[in-house]
Amino acid sequence: MDALNLIYYSPTGTTQKIVREIGENLGVKRISEYNISENEIESIPVLNNSLTIFGLPVYGGRLPLTAIETLKKFQSNQSPAVIVVVYGNRDYDDSLLELQEIANNCGFKVIAGAAFIGEHSYSSNEKPIAQNRPDKQDLEKCKDFSKLVIKKIKHISKLTAPTIPGNYPYKERKQLPANVHPETDNKRCNKCGICVDVCPTNAISIEDLVITDGELCTLCCACVKYCPEEARTFDHPKINEIRERLLLNCSTRKEPLFFV
Ligand SMILES: Cc1cc2nc3c(=O)[nH]c(=O)nc-3n(C[C@H](O)[C@H](O)[C@H](O)COP(=O)(O)O)c2cc1C
Repeated sequence: MDALNLIYYSPTGTTQKIVREIGENLGVKRISEYNISENEIESIPVLNNSLTIFGLPVYGGRLPLTAIETLKKFQSNQSPAVIVVVYGNRDYDDSLLELQEIANNCGFKVIAGAAFIGEHSYSSNEKPIAQNRPDKQDLEKCKDFSKLVIKKIKHISKLTAPTIPGNYPYKERKQLPANVHPETDNKRCNKCGICVDVCPTNAISIEDLVITDGELCTLCCACVKYCPEEARTFDHPKINEIRERLLLNCSTRKEPLFFV
């Protein structure tokens, strides 16, 4: 394989970090990146004669709906693919199985999968959940996974599908009311517009004040994590309740898992 495609959705950057680390350790010369959390990918080629890595974060044990729409536009004629999900130390539930199904339906041949851990989108210094992950240890695990993929792809004529955990029907998606979304502290905000740029669903606009469209917001927290003034916060009681539950039940470190 002399070409590699990295296709990922990563509002707060952890999935991007992991997918890049896996990709860079595969020893492939030509790497093309498709960051589907940035707005509009101009043209999507058919991805043949190459290896593709799909990387997505886990939202409610599933894949983010907004990412799926774009993901389905990628097509291949049975080129191999590696699927990766990144979750915030709670669980990845049916997300990897869902990703396998989408990749297969797009014409890829899934040869390996992995579930990695990234800092939870709702983590804060006061309430840390998988804070600063992926860390050094996780990045070492990325290298281990790359080695397994290299080994598997050497036997290209007998590439078998891995057994991916998960259940049908997939876990039901739950949606919080539209009034639950990050807010701006207008005393701190200098209207730099970074929140507008990093929002993958164009849910934020700046007029006299910063306005958030609760119908479009996916609660990804990119605006919170990237705000240089710490003016964006997500302190809704519903989210604080989730944070407390995560702290109580999901503070024990989980480790990446490979399915090859
Ligand atoms: C709406 C939403 C739902 C989430 N659901 C889960 C979940 O079910 N399990 C889990 O462990 N982490 C969950 N997370 C945490 C993310 O999977 C995790 O923070 C991931 O590293 C984010 O990826 P990114 O940095 O590439 O955006 C959720 C995050 C968001 C924003």
